[in-house]
Amino acid sequence: RPRVVMTVRSSNAVSGAASILTKLQRDCATPLPVLRHVADAMTADMRAGLQADGGSDLKMILSYVDALPTGNEKGLFYALDLGGTNFRVLRVQLGGKDERVIATEFEQVSIPQDLMFGTSEELFDFIASGLAKFALKEAGKFHLPKGRTRELGFTFSFPVKQTSIDSGILIKWTKGFAVSGTAGKDVVACLNEAMIRQGLNMRVSALVNDAVGTLAGAQYWDDDVMVAVILGTGTNACYVECVGAIPKLNSPPSTSAKTIVSTEWGAFSNGLPLSEFDREMDSESINPGEQIFEKTISGMYLGEIARRVLLRMAKDARLFGDSVPEKLQMPFSLRTPDICAIQQDSSKEFEHVGSILYDVAGENSNLSVRKIVIDVCDTIAKRGGRLAGAGIVGILQKMEEDSKGVVFGKRTVVAMDGGLYEHYPQYRKYLQDAVTELLGPDISKNIVIEHSKDGSGIGAALLAATNSMYPH
Ligand code: GLC
Repeated sequence: RPRVVMTVRSSNAVSGAASILTKLQRDCATPLPVLRHVADAMTADMRAGLQADGGSDLKMILSYVDALPTGNEKGLFYALDLGGTNFRVLRVQLGGKDERVIATEFEQVSIPQDLMFGTSEELFDFIASGLAKFALKEAGKFHLPKGRTRELGFTFSFPVKQTSIDSGILIKWTKGFAVSGTAGKDVVACLNEAMIRQGLNMRVSALVNDAVGTLAGAQYWDDDVMVAVILGTGTNACYVECVGAIPKLNSPPSTSAKTIVSTEWGAFSNGLPLSEFDREMDSESINPGEQIFEKTISGMYLGEIARRVLLRMAKDARLFGDSVPEKLQMPFSLRTPDICAIQQDSSKEFEHVGSILYDVAGENSNLSVRKIVIDVCDTIAKRGGRLAGAGIVGILQKMEEDSKGVVFGKRTVVAMDGGLYEHYPQYRKYLQDAVTELLGPDISKNIVIEHSKDGSGIGAALLAATNSMYPH
């Protein structure tokens, strides 16, 4: 008897959950017209942001990188990468044209949760002390000429108003950081003060965003790289722009010199297909109303959106039995790597999905429940990947309009980096599909979207070399 009751209850649960899923799929759908609208709006927002500061959701930040690495860079350089859940320190020995990168070494440290909510001094002290420990261990292939100051490329992956290649003011924190006392300050000065407190003598010769670092790092190997996109905890994109096409710079339109512009596209919001779950997540976030594109497509949020959907299914349709699993009620308890693992399960009974669900819900799940959960994850990943693809087309389209055939008519590379892109094959495929759908086969065969692993670290070190005070 009890078995029959169970089956009846679970089939009700499954049909209840299925209708929540259907609505979700409708709200998150990204058919071609939606993608096209997003791509066009991205192009228009880019133009508005280039016109005037504050002219659009997109800040279109000038990187002050107007000399990209040439390959001739030589010597020992450092990079420090702060941008998500980890910070990384890295040293690179550059050997010039023939030898290029002779050796690299890096260390990664995860940032303790409390430092993300602490004071600016605490955060920068922590970073500077990690950097100091690392810098003291130079040996082997790494050579610093006697008496020479160590030089550092500082990748700081938050919206910064650059004031020169080696200074910039934090506009606001993103990606869950809420450190007090940094916004409005020069982050290089913050790092310098912390280095002095650590007794570490190093000069920050370049301050770069991770997207900018990735573009520089990827261009070093391949001249056709024109765009770089980060899809990790957060998201951003940058591209090579003509100085003359930046009205807010007040430069003569005849200038054909090139620079890199960081779009900060995470703040884009125009015409996105959003569900009630996105709206709730946004309004309960520490930055409501901000970074809407980022909240729809990036790694910090995909798992959380799925969690909210599953929680609704648990509450309204009793998908996981009579009580609502406690863990499912905890914000961010389902992470993007979990929903990625759920999609990776190709076993017949979806056993791995079962074990992840057991972990989250403390209940055994049957096959229909597992399938619903897989579909929820797929809906969120599909929307994210396709919208990211539309964003990329928006950028390429802007470059094409200005250059008349130079971008679409020849090989153009978009360098991609970030954990989400690197580890989520379905997401990657959805992104590529959207680009191909939007551009059509003839143009999209010229557009190469490829992973540029850890380009941002090396890129920052290269930019430190390009802006070194010791001419090579
Ligand atoms: C966030 C930051 C941006 C960064 C991106 C990727 O959107 O605001 O500066 O590039 O995350 O890390």
